[in-house]
Amino acid sequence: MSNRTFTMVKPDATGKGYTGAILDQIIKGGFSIKAMKWLKLTPEQAGAFYEVHKARPFYGELVEFMSSGPIVAAILEKENAVEDFRKLIGATNPAQAEEGTIRKNFAASIGENAVHGSDSDENAAIEGAFFFSRLERF
Ligand code: CMP
Repeated sequence: MSNRTFTMVKPDATGKGYTGAILDQIIKGGFSIKAMKWLKLTPEQAGAFYEVHKARPFYGELVEFMSSGPIVAAILEKENAVEDFRKLIGATNPAQAEEGTIRKNFAASIGENAVHGSDSDENAAIEGAFFFSRLERF
């Protein structure tokens, strides 16, 4: 069990002006921010980040969407971070997300689902390192 996870506020949420409210819910959920940046991914960068999903039918759509507008990338810290963050954000499909979760509150569809959360400690470390050098993590 690790105490860090990685998140992105996705282009649907930044575009609708939900960034502040989502970060507020994350912080009120007990997570502290260890690294953060606001940036727009190129299709190549989004494709590389989601390389693991390359064979999936939704890969092209996912890459296009994730490079369509700005995102906020962050490394978060809390005890049991990966599991607790996935509870805070809710199911991948917002229609199945529990009341009060970030995706229930802010997401529109399975593709445009407001936030990303790492699914394992190993991926949290890989994904954090994709965006942040050691000098940018505290
Ligand atoms: P995320 O947690 O960022 O990880 C992979 C993403 O792929 C996921 O959130 C969704 O946004 C997206 N995704 C998963 N399943 C589908 C699907 N059936 N159609 C479109 N996008 C999907």
